[in-house]
Amino acid sequence: MEYKRAKIVSVGVYVPQKEITNKDLEKFLDTSDEWIRTRTGIISRRVVSNANDNAFEIGGKASMAAIENAKISSQDIDAIICATFTPDYFFPSTACKIQNYIGNTKAFAFDISAACAGFLYGLSLANSLIISGQCKRVLLVGTEVISKTLDWKDRNTCILFGDGAGAVVLEECSIKDGGILSIYLKSNGALGDILYLPAWGDNRFMKMNGNEVFKYAIRLMSDSVLHGINNAGVTINDIELLIPHQANIRIIKAVAENLGLPMQKVITNLDRYGNTSSASIPIALEQAWREGKIKKGTLVALTALGGGLAWGSAVVKF
Ligand code: ACO
Repeated sequence: MEYKRAKIVSVGVYVPQKEITNKDLEKFLDTSDEWIRTRTGIISRRVVSNANDNAFEIGGKASMAAIENAKISSQDIDAIICATFTPDYFFPSTACKIQNYIGNTKAFAFDISAACAGFLYGLSLANSLIISGQCKRVLLVGTEVISKTLDWKDRNTCILFGDGAGAVVLEECSIKDGGILSIYLKSNGALGDILYLPAWGDNRFMKMNGNEVFKYAIRLMSDSVLHGINNAGVTINDIELLIPHQANIRIIKAVAENLGLPMQKVITNLDRYGNTSSASIPIALEQAWREGKIKKGTLVALTALGGGLAWGSAVVKF
């Protein structure tokens, strides 16, 4: 029997036009550009223009870009997985709405909930569907309209996030063509109350203990990359690029330092987009690909942590 792997063959991105800079936030919040830059690394973020802008539409636009870049038709997709914590409906799933948006009638489609780790959880599922032989081609989308969930009077949270979407197409490949070498996932439900968004009640805004999340993010993202490279049978020196979830530049720098990776090997874009949760890794991946940092054979580590807590890593050979 010939062993198969799953490979990311393309990426597509969509971010809304509307931009909110730190200077804009200064106009209605007790904050400053200087505080936000130095404590988070964020300068600006994109947000949808009004309450009618949907997660499925921006996810659908990112999906169309990924499909076009893969040089396939939307009907070539066997499964659609959407990672989001800001769905437009409890049901239908955002993935089903995206299926209709992109004009696919052949796939099965479903959402997953793992907050900022959603892209990695989705990658694990896509990988399994392909390796098991159930699917030849999977579309994985991370899409978020986080601006709708924020209390714009709470300077502890609203300064951190942005809206956006990223999608990848995964296909079956042979082992010699690289693909996903390892995926490591973990969660700890006992830490659910340090970062959460209630589904019911009058006060449906994100709540966060920033200092606690900060400490866990550094420790658990560093730890999961070490597990990931170990499972992949590679060393940290083999890793050519690290694409971390974009939460805070100080978290990213501390993870890189813990791993002994120079920042030249780390992709960052949170200065322009803030934290886009499940979309942050594919948005950063698209940037790296467009800038020519990803070529055939490039070895990349991905890592993220989010509410749950849920976290993990993946090691991928392009
Ligand atoms: N502007 C100005 N002052 C502020 C702001 C603001 N926007 N927010 C907080 N402050 C004040 C605080 O009130 C506090 O004032 P005090 O000393 O008078 O009490 C002071 O700044 C320091 O606050 P800290 O919370 O200690 O600041 P810290 O350096 O820890 O930064 C931050 C806070 C940016 C939230 C940081 O803890 C963080 O990034 N945590 C991770 C949170 C995160 O990324 N969550 C996203 C989801 S999970 C994920 O994606 C990994």
